Amino acid sequence: MERIILTGFMGAGKTTAGKALGNRLSVPVYDTDVLLEQKLGMSMNEIFDQFGEEEFRRKETAMLRELPEGPAVITTGGGIVMKEENRELLKQKGRIFYLSCEFNALYERLKEDTTRPLLKEKTKEQIYQLFESRMSAYEEGAIVIETTGKNPKEIAADIAARL
Ligand code: S3P
Repeated sequence: MERIILTGFMGAGKTTAGKALGNRLSVPVYDTDVLLEQKLGMSMNEIFDQFGEEEFRRKETAMLRELPEGPAVITTGGGIVMKEENRELLKQKGRIFYLSCEFNALYERLKEDTTRPLLKEKTKEQIYQLFESRMSAYEEGAIVIETTGKNPKEIAADIAARL
């Protein structure tokens, strides 16, 4: 089985849909953020506070290179596609599915979130700008899965139907 990589903006449901897909296909699920948090023994907020975004991005690329081999679902942090190096690595590592979601649905999930450092002190308009600026990077080389209004099991089924 080819490895499956899920990308998409914060709140698109990569982690929950990834777990549902891993269950469905009986393969392990690796989340780049969780692996990094475990490796460093820190939360994402702590990582950003201590190292800053630039250093987080370096660690994120290193984590991508270190991912275990073999069949798996890999779920990624929402900004991973912003570096060309990462996009190339992702293409080499498996088939990429971009979990696309309407901005307002994302925002409803994100507006009370305190675990994501990039959302701190950002207005809805600023988060929308970030969303917009990333769109083409998400679409590059990916199969687009529309997720708005779908639950994780439905998203997993949609991905499985495209394998
Ligand atoms: C980020 C998304 C987060 C995490 C970090 C940065 C981003 O992952 O990697 O806070 O740049 O969009 P999720 O997409 O899982 O929230």
